Amino acid sequence: MGTATTGQVILVGGGPGDPDLLTVGGLRALREADVVLYDHLAPLTCLEETKAGAVLIDVGKIPRGCQTAQTDINALLLEHAGSGANVVRFKGGDPFVLGRGSEEWLACAAAGIPVRVIPGVSSAIAGPELAGIPLTHRGLTQNFSVVSGHVGPEHPATTVNWDALAKSSGTIVILMGVAHLQEICAGLINRGLDAETPAAVVAKAATSDQRVIRGTVASLPDIAAAANIEPPALIVIGAVVGLDLGPAIPTTATKE
Ligand SMILES: C[S@@+](CC[C@H](N)C(=O)[O-])C[C@H]1O[C@@H](n2cnc3c(N)ncnc32)[C@H](O)[C@@H]1O
Repeated sequence: MGTATTGQVILVGGGPGDPDLLTVGGLRALREADVVLYDHLAPLTCLEETKAGAVLIDVGKIPRGCQTAQTDINALLLEHAGSGANVVRFKGGDPFVLGRGSEEWLACAAAGIPVRVIPGVSSAIAGPELAGIPLTHRGLTQNFSVVSGHVGPEHPATTVNWDALAKSSGTIVILMGVAHLQEICAGLINRGLDAETPAAVVAKAATSDQRVIRGTVASLPDIAAAANIEPPALIVIGAVVGLDLGPAIPTTATKE
């Protein structure tokens, strides 16, 4: 444990899965940590980089599976940092993109625990990119939106402006939405999005199990259902999905 009476918390974005996408600063923080609270979407092989004696705590949240409540995660952060430990909160993607990192920051700040964030490569950008889908392309699309599909467009609890999204003409990236793919695609079409807009699901991006399913907003739900997509997966919609960049050189994560 650290020598100071109060430790600190570093929120580290681990990127979408490939250890190569963890930042140099994130890796340094992991190596120096006394305690690591990690999620399942973080690149778990990087935990091998922690020092001897580091305490590793699994607070993973598996959809519809065993979960650690956010209040319990916050309490663990405060407990360990409060007793002097240098704590890393190791998260998938970027901590502040639909990742509740800012809630953890606020909990630390309220308790007087020093806190900082090391940004990570978000799956919202890396997922499409590794599937050969650029979020923007000159002459085609100059804007993109990243939204949560945790609840679909017809759900009373949604705070996403699906009407504006359907008319945005930019690329739409939807995280946590594959379970509601049918409702999302139908909802966007009903709100004015061209049903023939190219669309894709990217599953397990940045891993050797990455899969890309392509179709149109109208056809994607049936194609994805037949393909038995496993989480984590994201949806990307827009003209850029129709671009064909051709094959990529395999990466350390994707080559056999
Ligand atoms: C709770 S959000 C966290 C997002 C994270 N903060 C980020 O920046 O990537 C989890 C969702 O991100 C997406 N996701 C995360 N990792 C992914 C991956 N490797 N491949 C595809 N989608 C991924 C999925 O939509 C998943 O349901």
